[in-house]
Amino acid sequence: MSYLISMNGKLNPGSVTWVDLNALQVPGVGNPFPSASPTPRTAAAAASSAALRQEAQLAEGRGMERWRGKAALVTGASAGIGAAVATRLAARGLRVLGLGRRLHKLQEVEKLAREQGGELHVLECDLTKEEDILRAFQWASDNFGGIDVLINNAGLFYETLLSDGATDEWRQMLEVNVLALKVCTREFLRGLQRRSTQPGHIVHINSVGGHWVPSLPGAAAYAASKHAVTALTEGLRRELVKTGRAGIKVSAISPGLVKTEILDRGNLHSAASDTVFASHAHMLPEDIADAVEYVLSVPERVQIHDIILRPAGEEGF
Ligand SMILES: NC(=O)c1ccc[n+]([C@@H]2O[C@H](COP(=O)([O-])OP(=O)(O)OC[C@H]3O[C@@H](n4cnc5c(N)ncnc54)[C@H](OP(=O)(O)O)[C@@H]3O)[C@@H](O)[C@H]2O)c1
Repeated sequence: MSYLISMNGKLNPGSVTWVDLNALQVPGVGNPFPSASPTPRTAAAAASSAALRQEAQLAEGRGMERWRGKAALVTGASAGIGAAVATRLAARGLRVLGLGRRLHKLQEVEKLAREQGGELHVLECDLTKEEDILRAFQWASDNFGGIDVLINNAGLFYETLLSDGATDEWRQMLEVNVLALKVCTREFLRGLQRRSTQPGHIVHINSVGGHWVPSLPGAAAYAASKHAVTALTEGLRRELVKTGRAGIKVSAISPGLVKTEILDRGNLHSAASDTVFASHAHMLPEDIADAVEYVLSVPERVQIHDIILRPAGEEGF
């Protein structure tokens, strides 16, 4: 920072000089204008200012830094939103276990995370089988010492009419979207109890379909499963407060349309998924990973209850 200084109080030509206040040194006093350097001028100064900011965040119990070295379990990490969240958490220094049925897809996500310097482990797990879920939590206990962050992401969407739908599709949606989420949540809480650890954080990937029934025909059965997730989010929050475990947070993230595999695999009768994404405003999995990161970053005193994310320009679902 430089100032034009008049040496004799008057601005006569020849009586002024430029003085760099940052560099000014007065014998016995040093730099009398410390506030003249409000911004760091070198990369080293910028790095030390970032470190100070990070320390302040840590002291306040906020920021992603506090989760570094902690363990996260992400269900449905083989594709879409779960893959984006798992790699993001690994990139932020968490030790991540990703679950799914398709091992080859999980291994692709694992490779990507490791190329980015993150630690991601994967396990084949069918969430409709309780023994698979228990095995995954046991693995996490043996290898990580337990789980600190649970992302209940796995989910299925079947377009199915209530007047004529297939029982198996209804069953699968309830088993994965609701029942598995409850079993994972219970195992996570039991694990924290065993370790006498708080805080921990559970994030349910809900849907706008958890808040209203989309106008898309055949979406009601899916919406019913996601309305259950809304009830489970608030129900668990109250239960944790009542049982003195308020240090454990539960949050939901409720997206509108996101470009993933969900429609390809969801028996979409009315239109091919490419057509849906070509003609409807939508988000990307990374946008939901941003929201997860935000939810995990807020100060201890804040609990994000639910975030509804809709694609900009969406006409309405
Ligand atoms: N995409 C959207 O527009 C949208 C909007 C709102 C909410 N959501 C929610 O976001 C979450 C993720 O969906 P997505 O869009 O990312 O879908 P996706 O691309 O189809 O991914 C679904 C994930 O769930 C896993 N999964 C499904 N059934 C499973 C089972 N029985 N056992 C273990 N894993 C299983 C899949 O893994 P495997 O196939 O390898 O088992 C996959 O990793 C879901 O809860 C969904 O309801 C999505």
